[in-house]
Formats: sequence, structure tokens, C-alpha cells
Amino acid sequence: MSIPIGHDVAHAAALLKSNELVAIPTETVYGLGANGLSPNAVAKIFAAKNRPFFDPLILHVAQFSAIEQLVQTVPSQAKLLAEAFCPGPLTLVLPKSNLVPDIVTSGLPNVAIRIPQHPLALELLRAVDIPVAAPSANLFGQLSPTTAKHVADQLGEDVSYILDGGPCSIGVESTVLQLAIDEKTPPLLLRLGGMTLEQIEEVIGEVAIPNPKAHPSTMAQPAPGMLPKHYAPQKPLLLVKEIESYLPDCPTGLLTLQSVPNIERFTAVEVLSESGDLIEATAHFFAALHRLQKMEIEQIIAVPFPEKGLGRALNDRLARASD
Ligand code: TXA
Ligand code: MG
Repeated sequence: MSIPIGHDVAHAAALLKSNELVAIPTETVYGLGANGLSPNAVAKIFAAKNRPFFDPLILHVAQFSAIEQLVQTVPSQAKLLAEAFCPGPLTLVLPKSNLVPDIVTSGLPNVAIRIPQHPLALELLRAVDIPVAAPSANLFGQLSPTTAKHVADQLGEDVSYILDGGPCSIGVESTVLQLAIDEKTPPLLLRLGGMTLEQIEEVIGEVAIPNPKAHPSTMAQPAPGMLPKHYAPQKPLLLVKEIESYLPDCPTGLLTLQSVPNIERFTAVEVLSESGDLIEATAHFFAALHRLQKMEIEQIIAVPFPEKGLGRALNDRLARASD
């Protein structure tokens, strides 16, 4: 049985209030939402996604004032960032208050919070008036969904409703930033995403970037979304820097920012932006991978993006999706 899909915000709100799961559109990717103050409702998310309990969830709220009761203090950097970028694709990690159930944070002392920008998400959050816990609405480790159909293709009857807000405008998950309370310690970038490092540093100055090699074990990851293998399509994905000289020896799909010479070498091709625009490319990124993984090909070859702006987040996802 397929999951009902529609535009009924009041229905979605009523389901969330009765502790059911609802997939919600955001500007980054679709989220799998539940009442973030109910441990029982949140537990359903982990079950539906097959997600390990050590991977904490983001709480979504409609306005900045709602953050105050979920955290112990609001450092001035959080206020600056919120003024500049919220609502938007930025998640702030702050010391949690007692209101936040431990299952949301996987027992960590910090909670991740974001104010999404998508109009339907905001309308829904205002209607429910509770923080909504929502990871990306995909099975654990797989490609993030950027359309309602992507959600319906992956998740099953545990989900009561998909609120359809059309294709996600940004297309890559939010940037996750952990703020220190003492203000002298630089914020820690836990995940590259839709808000670029350049944009963040312009507002609050230098941000620390953890060295992934310093956290080899799963449990010691500063953010479990930084697991080396994540966001992966169901076909092997290989990163190739020298695409000009690459000759495939089996049916191969190509994922590339712009077109490359002799493109007929490839069985399937996804050019993300003819003009090389990283914003446009990001918006098409996951949908292109969803299409490629369904094609009659044996592997996906991806060309790295320029390492700047949103290109950093896309390279991060490619690195985690590759073998
Ligand atoms: O754009 C997004 O962030 C989407 C939409 C639905 O909002 N959500 C999303 O959630 O991508 P998820 O669960 O797929 O990724 C959340 C990331 C993970 O890397 C998780 O480990 C990290 O945020 N995270 C959540 N809570 C945390 C915490 N308390 N401390 C550190 N990292 C945390
Ligand atoms: Mg995810």
C-alpha cells in the first residue's frame, strides 16, 4: 500500500499531534517528521528509517523564540547567525534543555535545531506549535529525497502522510554547526550543507573544521552524519578526476557539473548545470542520483565539483557515496 500524498497542512498537523509520522517538504531535502517532544513518536522515526539510535535528530521550529526553551543558553553567535540565515539551510547545535527527550539527541548533551525556509514547512510548524524532529526521509545510509515521490519510493506504511511541497529548491541537507557557549572557542562545522562556509564565516568569523581521520570509529564521530559511507546510491559510485582519459569497461552512468568531451562513452548522463552554476547543480544533485541508480548501468562515475561554495557540500556527499 502506498503512502497518501497531498497538500493538506491541517491534516499533516493533526497526524503529527497524534504522534504519527509525516514526511515534510523543506528547502533542503524532505524530512521524516514526528512530535519532537514525544519519545514514542521519535522512536517511530528510527524504526521507519532503520536508523541506528546513536545518530541524533534535528528539531525543526518555526521561529527563533521557540529555540530558547529547547536550549540552556543562546550564545550571541547563534543570534547573529539566526538574524542572517534563519529561516534557512543552517542547523545550530547547542546545549539542550530538559525539555528535549534523550532519544532525540542520542543521549548527547547538545541538541540540533533548525528553522526551515519552505513555506509549507513553516505553515505546518506554526500549525503544530511543537518542535518537529525530522531526519532526511530516506532509509538509513541511502540517497536523500528531494521530491515527494523519492520518499514514497523508499519508505513504507510506517509513514501516515507525505506533505507534497514540490521539488526541494536547495537540494542538499542543511549545514550543521556546533556553537560553543564560551564564545572564545570557534564553532565546529559538523556537516557541510546548503549554507556555505564562506557565508557563515562572513558573519561570525573563523569556523573550525574537524579532521574526519581523527574520528575513525562510529561512536566517536562528532556528528554521525559524517560517517564515511552515507548518502549512497544503490550502484557503486566512483570519483574520477581525469574524466577526459577515462574509458568505461562496463555500462556506466556519468554525473557531472558540466558536459565533458566524448560523452557517448557513457550509457547514461546527468549534467547538473550546463552553465556550471553550483546552485542549480545542487538543486538537481540527489534527483540525478535517484535517476542514475534506476538505470541499466553497472556503475556511476562522478566528476568532483569545484571546491568552493556549495561545491564543498556536493564533494562531501560524493566522497561519502563513493566506494
Ligand atoms: O536539511 C536537513 O538538515 C534535513 C531536513 C529534513 O531538515 N535533515 C537532515 O537530517 O538532514 P539528518 O538526520 O539526515 O541529518 C542530521 C545531521 C546528522 O549528521 C546528525 O548526526 C547531526 O545532524 N546531528 C543531529 N543532532 C546532533 C547533535 N545533537 N549533535 C551533533 N550532530 C547532530
Ligand atoms: Mg540524512
